[in-house]
Parts: sequence; C-alpha cells; structure tokens
Amino acid sequence: MADITHTAVLGAGTIGASWAALFLASGRPVAVYDPAEGAQSTVQAYVDQAWETMSELGLTARGNRDRITFARSAREAVEGAGFIQENVPERLPVKHALFAEIEPVIAPDAIVASSASGLTLGQMQAGWQNPGRFILGHPFNPPHLIPLVEVMGNGLTDPDAVPAAEQFYKDTGKVTIRVKKEVPGHVANRLQAAVWREAIHLVQTGVASVGDVDKAMSAGPGLRWAAMGPTTLFSLGAGSGGLPAFCDHFADTFNGWWDDLGKPKLTPEISEMLAKGLASANGDTSMERLAALRDLKIVKMQVALASVKEDE
Ligand SMILES: NC(=O)c1ccc[n+]([C@@H]2O[C@H](COP(=O)([O-])OP(=O)(O)OC[C@H]3O[C@@H](n4cnc5c(N)ncnc54)[C@H](O)[C@@H]3O)[C@@H](O)[C@H]2O)c1
Repeated sequence: MADITHTAVLGAGTIGASWAALFLASGRPVAVYDPAEGAQSTVQAYVDQAWETMSELGLTARGNRDRITFARSAREAVEGAGFIQENVPERLPVKHALFAEIEPVIAPDAIVASSASGLTLGQMQAGWQNPGRFILGHPFNPPHLIPLVEVMGNGLTDPDAVPAAEQFYKDTGKVTIRVKKEVPGHVANRLQAAVWREAIHLVQTGVASVGDVDKAMSAGPGLRWAAMGPTTLFSLGAGSGGLPAFCDHFADTFNGWWDDLGKPKLTPEISEMLAKGLASANGDTSMERLAALRDLKIVKMQVALASVKEDE
C-alpha cells in the first residue's frame, strides 16, 4: 500500500524477525525493538537467511535488506511508522504494558497489528485507552514463507483499519482472511487442531502408525488442500450436481464418521507414544534435515502454485 512507507516490529523472536524480513522485502524500512541481548545480530542473521527464500518466491524485487534499524525502545521504534506489527510474548500484562507505552506516540492513522495466537482481540484491547487502530494480524509461522494472515477487528475498531491492514498485507505478498468473531485459536489453528486430534486418535486406537498417518495427510488431502479448500474440493466431487449433490450423497457417511471421531487429550503418555512413533518413522533423519526439507518443499510448492494463472 503506497500510503504505508515505514513499518515497525515490536518483539523480534520467532515471529517478529520473520515479519521484519518480509516488510523489508516489500520495500519498506523497518524499525525493530527487542530488548533481548544479542537480538540485533540474531535478527540480522535471520533476515539474511530469509532473504534467499523470499527471493526464490519472487518477494524481494522491491526490497532492500539494509533498511533495518534497531531502536532502543518501543517508543523510538514506532515513531513515524504507518504499520506496527506486535510480536511480544503471549502474556497479557506484557502486551498491555507495551500498548500503554506506545499509545501516546504512535501516528494517529498508524495501524497496530498483534500476532497473538492465543489471546483474543478483546483481551488485548483492554490495554488501550482507544483501541481504534489496533487489530489482530495473526500469521502462520514463518510469516515470510506462509502466506496466510488472519485479520480481525470489532465494534471498537475504526472502520478503515481492517481494510487498510488487508491492503498492506496483500502488498507484502500475504493472503488474508477475515475473522468475524472471537474464538480461541482463530480459524487456521482450529482446523489444524481438529485434524491433529483425529491423527492422534487413529494412532492411539491402533488404526495406523504415526508415520503412515502423517503420510496419509501429506500424500493425500494435504496436497489437495494446498490447491483448494475442503468445501470447494467436495463441491467438485459429485459431478455436475456440485455441493448439494455431494451433501446429498454423503450425508450419512460423513455424519457416521463424525460420530466416530475421537477426542484424545494431549497427556504425557500420548506425547511419549507420538515421539516413539515419530522416531520409528523418521529413523536417523535429524531435526535440522527435516526442517530444511519442509522449507524446501514449501518454497517449491509455492513457486509452482504461483505459476498457475487462475483466471485462464
Ligand atoms: N511461534 C509461533 O509459531 C507463532 C505463530 C503465530 C503467532 N505467534 C504469536 O507471536 C507472538 C510472539 O511469539 P514468538 O513465538 O515470536 O515468541 P518469542 O518468544 O520467540 O519472541 C518474543 C520476543 O519478544 C521479545 N520481548 C519481550 N518483551 C518485549 C517487549 N516489552 N518489547 C519488545 N520485545 C519484547 C523477546 O525478547 C523475544 O525476542 C505471540 O503473541 C505468539 O502467540 C507465534
């Protein structure tokens, strides 16, 4: 978005460092504040590493990775910024203290977006005198690689703040969805949680191994879901009748499956069971190798997906 020329990132751990890299890639300077010792060199190293990936994704054409500055305080970082992404630890008093500190100095039309996964917009709004410019902008880790951002405002939010944030995120290469109601976990984490719950249930009840359940997902529905969402896909699954025909054909089947799905709890025993299953599935492959493979595959898939012209 042409109007937003300067950005700030508050808290530059796992999520903030990645946002900083993405904002730089979008051609905007970013001012970072993180009080942790060594934060500057960690973030700098992260940006350098992320730059290669973002270049492969075609995100760095306008970017300049040298336009990063490190502020001595949150107040200093947000001065003159049109978009501020907050990524401090997921504790309400920490977020509230930060909001109280920056509120007197942020530009009147600046947008402050929180990356919070677990806290709700309402809980965080309580930290503001006037929360009009404060929204939820929840990324999927890592933000410089995974396109999704879940955006939310409510009755206390200025009407233009959410559309302006969506435009800004889109300009940085993100895909946004609108969250219309406060629920724990927003949207995408709830979807993940639902699938993982059944994955665990299938292992726990001896239906398949951890490795095979993982494979069933990545070689099956996971691939399709990277192309299109589940409701669109099912609408294509019953010929010309579309979704109504699909629902008509499969109502009893799905209702029966839903009745049979499990509700395991994440206990220490379940955690041990999954760890053993994972060790047997992955053998000697190190965590570093697995992480590198994950990132490589995600980048390759995104490059391939971007080459598909949807309107042709
Ligand atoms: N890790 C994930 O997968 C993930 C995904 C989506 C959203 N989030 C959300 O992002 C936020 C940050 O999570 P994270 O995983 O990056 O945490 P993290 O612990 O990796 O990073 C938090 C950073 O904030 C810094 N910090 C602490 N107090 C600060 C302050 N007052 N001002 C500025 N910086 C401060 C810390 O030094 C640390 O570097 C959380 O709200 C979390 O829910 C995390």
